[in-house]
Amino acid sequence: MTEKQTWSQRFESALHPAIARFNASISFDIELIEYDITGSQAHAKMLAHTGIISHAEGEALSTGLEQVRQEYRQGQFQPGIDAEDVHFAVEKRLTEIVGDVGKKLHTARSRNDQVGTDTRLYLRDQIQQIRQLLRGFQTVLVDIAEKNVETLIPGYTHLQRAQPVSLAHHLLAYFQMAQRDWERLEDVYSRVNISPLGCGALAGTTFPIDRHYAANLLHFDNVYDNSLDGVSDRDFAIEFLCAASIIMVHLSRLSEEVILWASEEFRFITLKDSCATGSSIMPQKKNPDVPELVRGKTGRVFGHLQAMLVIMKGLPLAYNKDLQEDKEGIFDSVNTVKGCLEAMTILLQEGLEFRHQRLATAVTEDFANATDVADYLAARGVPFREAYNIVGKVVKTSIAAGKLLKDLQIEEWQEIHPAFAADIYEAISPRQVVAARNSYGGTGFVQVRQAIVNARTRLNVN
Ligand code: ARG
Repeated sequence: MTEKQTWSQRFESALHPAIARFNASISFDIELIEYDITGSQAHAKMLAHTGIISHAEGEALSTGLEQVRQEYRQGQFQPGIDAEDVHFAVEKRLTEIVGDVGKKLHTARSRNDQVGTDTRLYLRDQIQQIRQLLRGFQTVLVDIAEKNVETLIPGYTHLQRAQPVSLAHHLLAYFQMAQRDWERLEDVYSRVNISPLGCGALAGTTFPIDRHYAANLLHFDNVYDNSLDGVSDRDFAIEFLCAASIIMVHLSRLSEEVILWASEEFRFITLKDSCATGSSIMPQKKNPDVPELVRGKTGRVFGHLQAMLVIMKGLPLAYNKDLQEDKEGIFDSVNTVKGCLEAMTILLQEGLEFRHQRLATAVTEDFANATDVADYLAARGVPFREAYNIVGKVVKTSIAAGKLLKDLQIEEWQEIHPAFAADIYEAISPRQVVAARNSYGGTGFVQVRQAIVNARTRLNVN
């Protein structure tokens, strides 16, 4: 902008100060500054390469932009509200440094294709960082799983005890979710990594630019084929926010389990002091703040996804200022997902301990082996539905007698059905119940050991 703060000769007066504040995005889009500089350097090189400006001018712009970067890093350049947005701020500072040639930078470009480029460069970086954090999270899950293949934990459906499972199997379920998250982000990346630079304000440009040249310098895989689409597309942002939301779903589910496990009702884990907090009034308390915060922060990421969808739904082509609203949600989602992944990884790694004694007892104190009694009969020729009904009766009479299945005498078993033999006790022991579920993808130890090997192989792919 000019010194008078008017847009061009077309304008008579400056913006109302409150409207200037309302319009400005510098307070948050400063996050894009390094990407803006990198994008502008590529643009300047392209202008020189195509002869739109001289090589000397191209050099001056690139070097000047590098100085802006250094000044920013050293805290000497801190653009304020008068800059409106990061793009103006950088261009203005550049022109102060290099003189009039700085005014050539914006040739054959608009802030519309510029901001689209910056956002994609930013997201590209962040996606890779999040994928790295997912890898760390997955690694900790496998590490704990490896030590707990034969640790048993009650498995639930409807939050009712169903069948015991290997603790490793339980944790590896989260490994799989994170694996899909990792792959999903790779897929999102392929659509983030397309360059809108050179689409201009909306219709392209009269200058003989080389969009592919600039895109190559910025390591984009491709360029947008339609300029109207290029400047106004935010599908990539929606997709990213969706992937981020799904990551949060997964982290939130794990959080919920950790919170339950730490409760007096479950007592499956102990929280270590490094990852738990106390109460300001109840001295006996140790609170699971980390998983609670992760569960709570999930809401804001879902909110940003919803906001982005709503921002887009009524937008006519091409750029509209509504699109400035994309940034805060993206930045906040990125920071939230990164923070939550980091916290959950630390929590698993050093913030909690499984209570092995308690788990061992937990898997013997219920009727979670009832299916195995039915399977036992079915394997000896009794039709499964019939076996199911017989065992239903057994459970009923056992409850009435205040006994568990393991406490029934062999005579009592044989009274129920002659097919029962002495090996029923082994068949219904928790360890055997788990080991026997050796179908592919099941909790049987052989399967789980193989799943760990497979997980490690996956982790080696980056
Ligand atoms: N700050 C703006 C944004 O974030 C940059 C693009 C402005 N373009 C325009 N035509 N006013 O979207």
